[in-house]
Amino acid sequence: MSKSRLLEIARNNKKHADAGTMELVDNIVKVPAENYYDPTIWQKEIDLIFKRIPLVLSVSNEIPNPGDYKAMDVVGVPVLLVRDSSGEIKAFLNACSHRGSALVENGNGNKKRFSCPYHAWTYNDQGALIGISSAHEFGEIDKSCHSLISLPVLERAGIIWGTLNPKSDLCIESFLSGYDSMLELFDLKNWHVFDQRTVKGPNWKVAYDGYLDLYHLPVLHSETFGSDISNQANYYEWGPHQRVISPYRSPERNGQGKAFDSLEVDEWPMDVLMAGVWTIFPHVSIASFNGGGRSILLSQLMPGETPGESYTNQYYLMENEPNEEQTKEANKQFELLEYVVREEDYATGLRLQKSLKTGMIDSVMFGKNEGGGQSFHGWIDKILKTKDKDLTSLFE
Ligand code: FES
Ligand SMILES: [Fe+2]
Repeated sequence: MSKSRLLEIARNNKKHADAGTMELVDNIVKVPAENYYDPTIWQKEIDLIFKRIPLVLSVSNEIPNPGDYKAMDVVGVPVLLVRDSSGEIKAFLNACSHRGSALVENGNGNKKRFSCPYHAWTYNDQGALIGISSAHEFGEIDKSCHSLISLPVLERAGIIWGTLNPKSDLCIESFLSGYDSMLELFDLKNWHVFDQRTVKGPNWKVAYDGYLDLYHLPVLHSETFGSDISNQANYYEWGPHQRVISPYRSPERNGQGKAFDSLEVDEWPMDVLMAGVWTIFPHVSIASFNGGGRSILLSQLMPGETPGESYTNQYYLMENEPNEEQTKEANKQFELLEYVVREEDYATGLRLQKSLKTGMIDSVMFGKNEGGGQSFHGWIDKILKTKDKDLTSLFE
């Protein structure tokens, strides 16, 4: 099913490429400028989007082995991801049931059990409380009622999603709307995490708009990606998740060139069929590259401490383990991507949000050629207006 959808998309893109056209939406849409800086709106986004909607917490190969864990703060919530002894992923609040201390410092490691650094209460990889120090002096409690707080989690397509609400009844699978079966086509669970880093940026939506936008590519990135790159984009949706792909083909661009004109799309290799940007609502982008071999940049964007700040964890994943020469190329590619994002995309975002914050600009616009941004802001509005009890129905 997912492969046939992929081929259908490739045929549609080829049709547009041959005709020099792209899909356009019906109208130009305006988004109020205050949506990018107003602290009340921003706090609602944290509470009603980031704390209700499943988020991408990691990639499978960051914690591939039993006992591997990753601890991190996500919009202020301390999260502990653990791969248990059977290889399943668990997610917990990184907080001891005694008095709330974090069980481990933020970072990665491997443990069979977690002993709290404050008074040494101990938990197993299922989050069950298995040991209370000086239990006879502490007093009688039912250990089974004092496990770590579990968060909903799902591992699919080599990616780990979790919801920062232990009581959430939003099914992560429904939220994915079938998009996970498309992402499976990357086969990321068998890829390698080559490197990762964090880049600071502007308001999370200012930053995310850029990932859905190919319109700016030949302009803002003329010095890096080149001024001859297409500014056209077709958008394909699965629930709130969108694939962005240019219909344009040339020999230099992702191999989607003349060599492929003579081939039927079902003969195209997988890296060509999967090209473009795959975004995962509300905060992830996956873009394909070829630095040192087939690779992707997975960008995990998180709101920062204030409306005007965000940070992006960039993961560079490679299909095959690189040799020495490929390692050099991959490093070069990853460095270029950091430069492009920090000095071109986010530098532009930081400047534009300064203008928006003056209050002199009422709204910004998304054209008929920017349907992806329109859809993204449409989903944000919709989710902010949806009550908890109706959230699940948004994704059915
Ligand atoms: S807070 Fe963890 S053992 Fe006391
Ligand atoms: Fe960009």
